[in-house]
Amino acid sequence: MTGAPRPHQYCPPFDQLDALERLRVTATRAVHPALELDAVTQQMAGRDGLEVVDPEGVPIAHFAAEQISDRGADGLPTWLGNSSPRPYERFYLPPGHVRTMMSPTALTVVVDRRLNRNDITEIRHASAGRAVLLLVLCGPTMSPYTRGVTLLRRSLEVARSLEDARVVAVPLDPKVAADDPELQDEVVSAYAPGPVAWLGAHTTGLPGTRTMEYSGASGGLVLFFTGLSGSGKSTVAKAVREAILEEDGRPVSILDGDVVRRHLSAGLTFSPEDRETNIRRIGWVAAEISYHGGVAICSPIAPYDSTRRAVRAMAADRGGDFVLVHVSTPVGECARRDRKGLYAKAHAGEIKDFTGVSAPYEAPTDAHLDLDTSSMTVEQARDRVLTLLRDRGHLADPHQPEWMI
Ligand code: ADX
Repeated sequence: MTGAPRPHQYCPPFDQLDALERLRVTATRAVHPALELDAVTQQMAGRDGLEVVDPEGVPIAHFAAEQISDRGADGLPTWLGNSSPRPYERFYLPPGHVRTMMSPTALTVVVDRRLNRNDITEIRHASAGRAVLLLVLCGPTMSPYTRGVTLLRRSLEVARSLEDARVVAVPLDPKVAADDPELQDEVVSAYAPGPVAWLGAHTTGLPGTRTMEYSGASGGLVLFFTGLSGSGKSTVAKAVREAILEEDGRPVSILDGDVVRRHLSAGLTFSPEDRETNIRRIGWVAAEISYHGGVAICSPIAPYDSTRRAVRAMAADRGGDFVLVHVSTPVGECARRDRKGLYAKAHAGEIKDFTGVSAPYEAPTDAHLDLDTSSMTVEQARDRVLTLLRDRGHLADPHQPEWMI
């Protein structure tokens, strides 16, 4: 028995699924094509057209055969059903609903990255007592990556600290928005009941009056200590970690040189190539942590300038802030401390290629902070790092009022 003919089913890439959803909730007008199709999919779509399904196979929309050309699928499809629920699905409200729900004087803040404390101050200042709509760009919303979820969770936390704020999730990837200012303005205008503020731009205005500057920042942090063995990197790193955990509660991971070499980099030697591999691994993991808005504190020797710069680039690529601290305790002091007895062995020739003795250490010229622990206490060193982090918006100012989260 042959059933009714079934259209070819097609699951588009995540950004296309978001584009379709924006069309469905009328966050955007119909564009041509509504759906981009590769040549193979065009051919597969026969006289029964094309059924668009989400990654779980739920049918979302149907394009008739006449709508499909070599440009893609044109015009409005027949909407079939809602795609599978995403985390925080209830915050994905249609723009028309948002505009009627909010006061016309409400200030819309477009959130494209993890809100930091400086942002909260700015939002409070810009809203001046008005209601606030945090419009969170969550795309690609069907992707298994959780960037959008993290952004939403943080925005909800921030909304609770404001007097009158609502959070709305938008199926738009901030990167796509930044590449297409017209699209970004169209979508933001569709939701915004009134004036719009752009994060970090220090301006408020009406939708469309300025384009968003996508910084790509995740709000996460890679705090990278570099210095000789025994210089105090791990001690200061741990003190900073404790302070962040106590003050802030954000997730913090330490990637310490000695510890990493027992796990992630087990088996590597101290040859220049292996040191490079070791630091690149640390950098990769740290960048990943920063991508999710966390804090990664790294404390390897990292003797080469070029490798440290590579880590900086990795963090930037994943949207993390990169802070380099040079623990510049002189080699004489490190050797005098010699807690592990390694300097004695290195001088006796029992350990080859020992950094600072028989292997090079390139002091950074691009460090944000220089700490010589021979002339300061651990607490003083820790506090200098914390001050730097406060200045960059990663930690609360101890004198800030209580509403600051
Ligand atoms: S790095 O050069 O690759 O960044 P890493 O920080 O992982 O070094 O490891 C340094 C630690 O390994 C030192 O603190 C010390 O305990 C130990 N170590 C063993 N051999 C060496 C060596 N030849 N040079 C430097 N550190 C060594």
